[in-house]
Amino acid sequence: MRDPTLSVTPSGRATTAASRREVFALILAAGQGKRMVSRWSKLLHPLAGRPMVRHVLEAARGAGVGRTVVVIGNQADEVRRAVGDGDKRIGFAYQKDQLGTGHAVLSAERQLAGYQGDILILNGDLPALRSETLRDFLQFHRSSAAPLSLLTTVIPDPSGYGRVIRNYSGDVSRIVEETDAAPEERATQEINCGIYCVDAARLWKPLKRATASNAQGEIYLTDLIEILRREGHKVAAYRHPDPQEVLGVNTRRELSAAGRALYRRKADALMAAGVSIVDPETTYIDVEVTVGPDAIIEPNVMLLGATTVGRDAEIGAGSRITDSQIGDGTAVLSYCVITGARIGRGCRIGPFAHLRPETVLEEEARVGNFVEIKKTRLGRGSKANHLTYLGDAEIGRKVNVGAGTITCNYDGVTKHRTIIEDEVFIGSDTQLVAPVRVRRGAFIGAGSTITKDVPSYALALSRARQENKEDWVKRFGPEARGKVRDKES
Ligand code: UD1
Ligand code: CA
Repeated sequence: MRDPTLSVTPSGRATTAASRREVFALILAAGQGKRMVSRWSKLLHPLAGRPMVRHVLEAARGAGVGRTVVVIGNQADEVRRAVGDGDKRIGFAYQKDQLGTGHAVLSAERQLAGYQGDILILNGDLPALRSETLRDFLQFHRSSAAPLSLLTTVIPDPSGYGRVIRNYSGDVSRIVEETDAAPEERATQEINCGIYCVDAARLWKPLKRATASNAQGEIYLTDLIEILRREGHKVAAYRHPDPQEVLGVNTRRELSAAGRALYRRKADALMAAGVSIVDPETTYIDVEVTVGPDAIIEPNVMLLGATTVGRDAEIGAGSRITDSQIGDGTAVLSYCVITGARIGRGCRIGPFAHLRPETVLEEEARVGNFVEIKKTRLGRGSKANHLTYLGDAEIGRKVNVGAGTITCNYDGVTKHRTIIEDEVFIGSDTQLVAPVRVRRGAFIGAGSTITKDVPSYALALSRARQENKEDWVKRFGPEARGKVRDKES
């Protein structure tokens, strides 16, 4: 029985049920990744808004793979969390010691016991891999009639990768790792990408024959090719034309190159969907971000995490927006930093505004330069245009917050709320010492320190009354004093 459906029980064990063409994926993610020079597992390193291993998982999913087993070992808990351990379609296998890619596959045998279809084996360090490529590869494998297919590519400088060795008739005969390769083998520019599809019936027993008698003393998955060939089986190779997409990431340089490729791909997809991106080379939009049509993104913009940008919005040069919603037609001018905020339609923000988590701007609100807002709702059509701090505040509609206004929300121990009702006018350079409430339509004179609630439609003034001393300058000003000095000398 080939191609049965699998389900992973909570314990991670595979069970079979009849269904056509389902493929099981096995992702190898137990390694450390020494060449990254990091205290974190390579698979945890983020790029374009996801940990490396999640990109591989999503590519497999996009290719129609149902169930997946991820082999974990180094920083197992962290990698498990990065993969997403609440998902029933994902099981985990634990590889206690990292004795090589072949050993990693064997560590998952228990989870896949009984499964008799094809297994798509993927190195966990392929963040730029696309679903379309995997789909083509699976299609290729199904029509090849070989028990094992692998994906290869040709690059000018193959150093670091396993070389694909073909016989006189062009068939793949084995893969040799760089450290084990003879000089003439090293010259081979066709490399193994760490993407394989193998019939489960030709996996477990043959792979157990692989030994660690090689330069690295590891059990190589790549030895399976030679083992199957010796048994008289065919090994099919699918040569992929775009190396960028299928190169394993081993170093930080390669991490940044893969990130670049993902950002470029995202920008291309958005432009195809009607978003204007002035300079895709300096635009960084994470994979999960959505942007509506006719939005304009200026250079050096970062749209990160779970951000959504509405249609006709405009994001000015140098702005960095993380996990936030930007409404339709809203303009974020240059150099704004916005994190965890919800911005309604038709707002205007910046330049140089800082909106921190739990900021909510209702539609047509305006926030100008050098304004910082945190945990605050600014009602519809309200404005805070210059040099202001609003924290822990509830601000109604059509409120004018004058330049230099500050909510004094922290007394050194706890945070307190400021409530400003609809249509209030707050004069410039006002301090609102929380907890305090300014009721509807009230008017606060500039330069006031407000410590008590202000009733509706009242004028509140708390500054010292101004006193003018007539002719004071003439009598006591510098000139007058100069004259005095002249007389004395
Ligand atoms: C591997 C291939 C090489 C290929 C290259 C493509 C082998 C022996 N070599 O080399 O032919 O050109 O990928 O990028 O397979 N892992 C485990 N447990 C282990 C060892 C590794 O889970 O014991 C995981 C790693 O976390 C990683 C993947 O397997 O995600 C590949 O391991 P890595 O060490 O990067 O293999 P390469 O040396 O790059
Ligand atoms: Ca690698």
